[in-house]
Amino acid sequence: MPRVPDEVFRAPKGVHDVLPPESGTWATLVGRFADRAARSGYGLIVGPVFEHVEVFRRVGEHTDVVSKEMYEFEDKGGRALALRPEGTASVVRAYVQHRPTPPWKVWYVAPNFRYERAQKGRYRQHWQLGAEVLGVDDPAVDVEVIALLDGFYRDLGLSGVTLALNSMGDAQSRPGYVSALRAYLLDHASSLGSEFRERVEANPMRVLDTKVPDWQDVVGRAPQLTEHLSEPAREHFEQVQEGLQALKISYELAPRLVRGFDYYTRTTFEFQSDALDAAQNALGGGGRYDGLAEEMGGPATPGIGFGAGIERLVLALDAASSAPTTRRLDAFVINGLGDAGSVATTVLVSELREEGLGADRAYGGRSVPAQWKAADRSGARYGVMLGRDEAARDAVAVKDLETGEQVEVPENGLATWLSDRRELGSEVAR
Ligand code: HAM
Repeated sequence: MPRVPDEVFRAPKGVHDVLPPESGTWATLVGRFADRAARSGYGLIVGPVFEHVEVFRRVGEHTDVVSKEMYEFEDKGGRALALRPEGTASVVRAYVQHRPTPPWKVWYVAPNFRYERAQKGRYRQHWQLGAEVLGVDDPAVDVEVIALLDGFYRDLGLSGVTLALNSMGDAQSRPGYVSALRAYLLDHASSLGSEFRERVEANPMRVLDTKVPDWQDVVGRAPQLTEHLSEPAREHFEQVQEGLQALKISYELAPRLVRGFDYYTRTTFEFQSDALDAAQNALGGGGRYDGLAEEMGGPATPGIGFGAGIERLVLALDAASSAPTTRRLDAFVINGLGDAGSVATTVLVSELREEGLGADRAYGGRSVPAQWKAADRSGARYGVMLGRDEAARDAVAVKDLETGEQVEVPENGLATWLSDRRELGSEVAR
């Protein structure tokens, strides 16, 4: 076979492997999110990683994610497909296809693909924890969805997180606002160059969250959507705020928060972390998309949800040195009986695992000192030694790998002995 360049056997630019021990944090985060979602009545949805490209066109033909960053391809049957750049479109497509009885409350953990300029906190494959609710117009569900994500972050002890809240208005309020905004921006466009004018003409809302310094002044003084809300949209927004206040969830009104997809209506929100670089400080965000199901050929159905990036969350946790506790091995079993002890080691490790304990061992007839080294490296709480003297008394020697303290425990009482000590410290920060 011809030799291929070394980089072929490296992960492509912008994607990465998540390996232990970092992946232990991931497992904990997913588990905690799953638990919270289940407690709020959400079921897991597992969807495809690719869809017909039209599914994603519906979420924003004019957005960067859809028009510039999508991984599109044709399959061998000539179908135009795309890797999922985000989760909402797939969930709504599944809703339209299967017509579950609303309210339909689902959560997911899934990879998304965007051909981005790769940098810290911005990748070409990223993972999101997300939740979506279809079929409920009630502002109580906006509050529930925001509270779900807020509670998840709160549990993790993250500080420096701000919730930005906005309303994008509804079908009645949006057109009037967009023309007022366009007129204002074009009035002030003369000194701001042709790119500004082109963007405003295509979609003036897309200019609102610009990071271009020269545009800030004009954009900062632009009319705000929340001043142009229809009466029902204003009332809905007020009720969402009342609910958040009742739950003591603090937020900041962010009239220039437009978010990156065309489907948003009414409530939008974003949790931002000051531990992340300003250009990608969004930990997670979402909002309502009351017209999307209908656009995909389904019945008119309101919807709301969020997506929360896992990589950015891990970055924020690392910056605060507050990675969540991960499961730790209770015991590392050391065979001090040579070849004759190999099967006894297999049996003991298996018994401990069957009792619900975390247990591991070394393989391949390693020396006793090498096995103790492996025990230290494993992060286990105790080293359990099958030794000749102890075996004569049907016992094992147990060493606390942190303090070095050693005791003898009857072999048939070992699982109970280890279990009794679990609550006291079997979970530690990695
Ligand atoms: P999004 O704001 O595009 O929204 O992404 C949600 C979160 O995913 C972001 O806040 C960020 O944490 C993470 N994220 C996005 N792009 C990247 C990237 N290139 N690298 C690393 N992390 C990233 C959505 O995707 C909507 N589907 C959210 C939603 C659900 N709206 C309603 N329902």
